[in-house]
Amino acid sequence: MRVLFVASECFPLIKTGGLADVIGALPRTLAASGDDARVLLPAFPAVKKAALKQKKIAEIADLAGAKAALLSANTSTGVKLYLLDAPHLYDVPGNPYQGSDGKDRPDNHRRFAALARVSALLAHGDLDNKWQADILHAHDWQAGLASAYLSLLPAPRPKTVFTIHNLAFQGLFPKATFSSLGLPPEMFSQNGLEYWDQVAFLKAGVVYSDHTTTVSPTYAREIQTDDGGMGLGGLLKSRSAHISGITNGIDTDVWNPANDPSLTTTFSLKSPAGKARNKAALQQKLGLDTDKNAPLFCVISRLTEQKGLDLLAGAIPHIVGNGGQLAVLGTGDKDLEAAFQNAAKAHKGKVATVLGYDEPLAHLLQAGADAIFIPSRFEPCGLTQLCALRYGTIPIVARVGGLADTIVDANDAALQAGAGNGIQFSPVTFDNLIAATDRFLALFDDKRTLNAVRKRGMKQDVSWQQPAAKYRQIYLSLLSDAT
Ligand code: ADP
Ligand code: GLC
Repeated sequence: MRVLFVASECFPLIKTGGLADVIGALPRTLAASGDDARVLLPAFPAVKKAALKQKKIAEIADLAGAKAALLSANTSTGVKLYLLDAPHLYDVPGNPYQGSDGKDRPDNHRRFAALARVSALLAHGDLDNKWQADILHAHDWQAGLASAYLSLLPAPRPKTVFTIHNLAFQGLFPKATFSSLGLPPEMFSQNGLEYWDQVAFLKAGVVYSDHTTTVSPTYAREIQTDDGGMGLGGLLKSRSAHISGITNGIDTDVWNPANDPSLTTTFSLKSPAGKARNKAALQQKLGLDTDKNAPLFCVISRLTEQKGLDLLAGAIPHIVGNGGQLAVLGTGDKDLEAAFQNAAKAHKGKVATVLGYDEPLAHLLQAGADAIFIPSRFEPCGLTQLCALRYGTIPIVARVGGLADTIVDANDAALQAGAGNGIQFSPVTFDNLIAATDRFLALFDDKRTLNAVRKRGMKQDVSWQQPAAKYRQIYLSLLSDAT
């Protein structure tokens, strides 16, 4: 089966969040089981710098006002790529969506409409004379217009899948931008891509694709409600029969404590001793007191409202007051950055804050910490809890979205039944977060139970094998559908 993924991020080339992890791993897993899965990405500077074997395969005379080229390439991990080399759209430093002022780029509608348009042409067989797709699989609002553009090309056309990674980012643009997109006027309607008189890229993905998926079964349910639907609940509910939730996996080659180059000492289920040495190394590196008996909590996250970390900032005195330590790695809202920085100053040796994006440190934190906090207000899937399970770190999570689907609360009943891999709390309130913290502190003192919970997590299958098979099933059912 030939599948074209289109997205704006792909690990290890460019990443701002979990989307990149998915695009770096799912096509690779599909390819390993015999499918021909390729990824179309904008040729951002970081992508051009790191992609291997770049070769021009087509020229596009006019793409949103200038010449562009389509390149074939590879990631270092072996994913087959197409790169859309359009310097007038993508040759900007840093964040792929925002300027250095932290604001969305004013031409984002042109930049990502162009990506979607090229994905449709490529999938349809109009750009690479050696390749066309059976399935066009678009991700998030940046690729939301892909199926709309494809629907304008002559049949036969590939089937289309659209995946929502986060409904909070809908790709909304003023009505005035519509005329620049090259779409027929009738598409700007309530049954099309219009939303409250704006152009809605994510909505277009849902409306024009044959099937919509999201990244966990619970989130698939949540987005079909008024509360979780973020304005699209009604539409999503009406498309219920064409919506599935598939829980993400993680790349178990990239996240493998048995051979992770970012760790001080590797470890595994069979020889877990190395975890303690990573804890000591982490404490030393971050200026925390080197104390193996202090429960070490961590956070690895975008610092935004979604992630509920304002509640955690308030809980720091409680954590420290009970002998705990906290290491935070993140970047995002200035208020949250300041709150965690101030906490580190106020609690020297107990709290450490690293602002910024640091892939190796994220790995060392997963290896060295005893627990990870993920108190998200909503979480489509979440990947850090899956990494944590694999690294023997106990997830303390809000019972929402993919966190509800992947973490089983280690309460007495679960423990007696030989289940439980973390701690859940609900609803997301300060008091519940404190109570969850206290439950972890009690677990930390009960080493036998702690080790049992840890081991269960490390044994869990968090790979892409099962999720990839489910995506494959969806592709096959669309292809066997004669319509
Ligand atoms: P989201 O996509 O909403 O940000 P996920 O949990 O799905 O959340 O994915 C986040 C990914 O980004 C994980 O791979 C995590 O390790 C990584 N990550 C988040 N913040 C940082 C950071 N500051 N430095 C390094 N990696 C980070
Ligand atoms: C989004 C979500 C996150 C999910 C990731 C990958 O960024 O916020 O929950 O894990 O996409 O699907």
